[in-house]
Amino acid sequence: MVRSRYLAIALSFSLGLSAASLAVRSAAQATETEPDGQKLFTASCGFCHSKGGRKSGKGPKLANSPRSDAFIVERIKKGKQGRMPAFARTFNDEKVMAILAYIRSLDEPAQ
Ligand code: HEC
Repeated sequence: MVRSRYLAIALSFSLGLSAASLAVRSAAQATETEPDGQKLFTASCGFCHSKGGRKSGKGPKLANSPRSDAFIVERIKKGKQGRMPAFARTFNDEKVMAILAYIRSLDEPAQ
């Protein structure tokens, strides 16, 4: 009786451990594969959206944009004829969302 209780405890302990190490592993993977919105922005958008989107240049300032998320996602994917290239073929949804998150991170609270 005592032995089997031991076994059960040992078993649940090792199961708990392997679940924990699985969680750690998948968290590490997530950070490895998560696209970096700031990097993507600097590489593809910074040429027109100056100072990382904080100032207007060839394109408008994006920080504190009153536009909706949907509008921004749409603009990134479809561009604007003759003014801004479309990026739907360059970036998958995950990358577009990372860029959107970066743009939103530029927002400063209203004073
Ligand atoms: C060749 C220059 C250029 C590049 C590169 C560029 N844009 Fe633009 N972008 C523009 C111009 C010009 C506009 C204004 C279009 C218009 O007339 O509405 C604009 C508009 C936008 C808008 C809408 C702003 C608003 O309030 O109307 C967003 C959001 C945006 N760009 C994001 C991006 C992102 C993100 C990238 C990179 C993936 C990018 N742009 C790359 C030139 C550019």
